[in-house]
Order: sequence, then C-alpha cells, then structure tokens
Amino acid sequence: MNPERAIPTDPVLLREPSPLPPAQRTGALRRWVPIRSLTAQDRKALATHLLALDADDRYLRFGQALSDAQILHQVEAMDFGRDEVFGIVNRRLQLIATAHLAYAPEAERIGRLAMAEFGVSVLPRVRGRGYGERLFDHAVMHARNRGIATLYIHALSDNRVMLHIARKAGAILEREGNESEAWLRLPPDTLASRFEELVETHAAAFDYHLKQQAQRVGELIEVVGEVREHLRREGGGSAQQ
Ligand SMILES: CC(C)(COP(=O)(O)OP(=O)(O)OC[C@H]1O[C@@H](n2cnc3c(N)ncnc32)[C@H](O)[C@@H]1OP(=O)(O)O)[C@@H](O)C(=O)NCCC(=O)NCCS
Repeated sequence: MNPERAIPTDPVLLREPSPLPPAQRTGALRRWVPIRSLTAQDRKALATHLLALDADDRYLRFGQALSDAQILHQVEAMDFGRDEVFGIVNRRLQLIATAHLAYAPEAERIGRLAMAEFGVSVLPRVRGRGYGERLFDHAVMHARNRGIATLYIHALSDNRVMLHIARKAGAILEREGNESEAWLRLPPDTLASRFEELVETHAAAFDYHLKQQAQRVGELIEVVGEVREHLRREGGGSAQQ
C-alpha cells in the first residue's frame, strides 16, 4: 500500500460478490490466532515492526522502498480513528505481523459502494505459518461489518504469496505489467459475522492481557533473582570481614 496513493474507485465495484470469505469457509477448522486491533498507543510497536522490514519487503508492502523516516512519518500520520490496524504479537508482546485496512474518507464514499484497501506484513522469521492469511480473513470480517462492499489489494505481480491469498479468497485479479490489483467483493454483514468479531476482539484482548501478566511475572522473577544474588554477595562479603 502506497501512502501517497488514494484508494481507487473502479467499476469493478459493481461486480457480483465473491464466494464466501475464507473466515467462513474454513474458520472453525483452523488453529485460532489472536489478532488485536491496534490503537494510537501502539504506534511505537507498529513502527518497530515496519522498520524491521528490509528494503525488498518494504517495496512489496508499500509499493516503494520507504526510508526509515518515511515509515516513521507514515506511522505518525496514521488515523486510527478512521482506519483499522491489526496485529499479532509473540509471547514477548512484539508485533510479528500487522495489517492495515484503509477506509476511503467519508467524502469519497458518498454515493458509491464503500471500499477499503488492505496491506499486510509478516516478519520473515514467522512467515509460512498462516499469519498473512489470518490477517486477511480478519480484515475481511471487519470490513464486512463496517458495510464495506469491496476490498482492494495492490501488489507487485511477482508477489505470489499475496496474490495467492487474494485469489484463494475469490478476488478478481487484474495485472498491469509488474503491478497487480485484486478486488474482492464482500457479502453484507450478518449477525454471525458481528458476533464473530465481538468474540474475537474479547478473546484477543484476554490473550494480550495474559501475555502482559506473564511478562510482568517474568520480570519480577528476574528482579527477585538479582536481589537474591546481591544479598548472597553482600552476605558473603560481610562474613569475610
Ligand atoms: C505476503 C505475506 C504477508 C504472507 O504472509 P505469510 O504469513 O507468510 O503467509 P501465509 O503463511 O498466510 O501463507 C498464505 C498462503 O501462501 C502460501 N505461501 C506461503 N509462502 C509461499 C511462497 N513462498 N510461495 C508460494 N506460496 C506461498 C501458503 O502456502 C498459503 O497458501 P495455502 O494456505 O493455500 O497453503 C508475507 O510474505 C510478507 O509480509 N511479505 C512482505 C510484505 C508483502 O508482500 N505484503 C503484501 C502486499 S500488501
């Protein structure tokens, strides 16, 4: 996703919805992965995640190899009130995968079927574990529940993995040289899709809370260990005096 580029409005919007999104096709059978909605408080963690991407990945993710300064600027300018940013964290609460669902500004949506652009990145060391696809399915669910009719993905034509994820979900792909666009028509929201979002949101928040507690306990154990070691040395020292 190129931060400078506006979300296109293409006649493809009028096409028929795709088959059911992946979350509905296979959701119950897959291992659950907690995905949190990020807020402005997560800017630093998001920046750390994006800065960890090398030049090639930045090119794939943003359509250009953004510099560190450009990434920081983009994260700073991110509108968490309008867009949605999702993240998967590891046990140390580091963001290992993130996705950005950019909604067209209200003014652009008037009189048109609403559209959102999807962008995603997964750190190289945890690729191939299904995180990219999970984030895609999660974004589909959120977009549906906000009345979005079409999900748009811009990718380089040789980005086989991203295009595979989009195609698998039923997106229509249009290739223009070394760039490709994918358009996924979304079915309307249902009570089930809203309930699924509610459950996932609470479960992910609970998971994050548990990881936070575990991290605090780990830090406490380290401090206790250091204090014990300090006392042992002090005790040994005074015994020798
Ligand atoms: C694209 C990206 C997000 C994929 O993340 P990921 O977590 O590795 O992807 P997943 O594990 O969910 O794999 C999704 C599918 O791609 C397939 N896949 C994974 N690696 C692949 C590869 N190297 N070649 C072909 N297919 C591959 C998987 O098998 C899976 O398909 P399946 O379920 O039918 O088997 C990740 O590679 C990335 O961050 N790339 C850099 C940024 C980027 O390209 N962003 C997309 C543009 S917005």
